Amino acid sequence: MSLQDLLEVVPSGSDELPLVRSIDFERLPRHVAIIMDGNGRWAKLRHKRRVEGHRAGIASVRDVVETSARLGLKVLTLYAFSVENWKRPKTEVSTLMGLLKHYLRMELNTLLKNNIRFRVIGRPGLPSDVADELERGAERTAGCTGLIFNIALNYSGRAEITDAVRRLVEDVSAGRRSGPVDEDAIGSYLYTAGQPDPDLLIRTSGEMRISNFLLWQIAYSEIWVTDVLWPDFRRRHLLQAIADYQKRERRYGGITPV
Ligand code: IPE
Ligand code: IPE
Ligand code: MG
Repeated sequence: MSLQDLLEVVPSGSDELPLVRSIDFERLPRHVAIIMDGNGRWAKLRHKRRVEGHRAGIASVRDVVETSARLGLKVLTLYAFSVENWKRPKTEVSTLMGLLKHYLRMELNTLLKNNIRFRVIGRPGLPSDVADELERGAERTAGCTGLIFNIALNYSGRAEITDAVRRLVEDVSAGRRSGPVDEDAIGSYLYTAGQPDPDLLIRTSGEMRISNFLLWQIAYSEIWVTDVLWPDFRRRHLLQAIADYQKRERRYGGITPV
């Protein structure tokens, strides 16, 4: 996928064209992770129920997944439901779960057609009908070799690290694993094993916090926060984030080369 694939969906004369052309396709982030936030506020502004915000957010998911695949990103990770989100009212949670199921059912063929590999990251514990649907999506797309699309569900960064370390210690004690217990070893027990760490972390709706997302993997991610609420987030915002990311200087603790 490339500039050409992206130009196919950006109408000629669109004010998005200069943005598309400003992107350096040789220096794309390999992995973009997004904290999709602001659905409730979007609904409130329109005097609607919170769940209407979640419903509207599906169009943003579709747009961002398609754009990521067309751009040629390697990995896209969307934060859809945290371990802490179970604190919300039962009806909101069940509507969200229903929407997820519905999304996957509607999108599975598009994902397959676009060679997108769908994966779920997070702890088990989703309602069984939702878990089954997600499992089916992951199995059906397992052979896809294009974009890896991780959706974080019942996810907690601390829980991920805790589970990884626990399994690593068990394997070492049982003699199933030898070699040092180092950062690479821990990384290989995370859900994202084998994937590059996020180069770019986006959060919508203006909140300046991480909310327990990918704590290990974002050690050196570039962070981009926008006031745009998730249901309003579209291709142009992702392109803007990538254009800004490409202006950043990543130093990893080193110094600016002269
Ligand atoms: C993000 O929107 C979706 C989820 C966390 C599931 P919110 O529902 O958190 O929306 P706000 O933050 O209340 O506006
Ligand atoms: C973060 O959003 C979790 C997801 C996007 C799934 P929240 O709305 O749950 O985060 P807080 O409560 O504002 O930190
Ligand atoms: Mg929120």
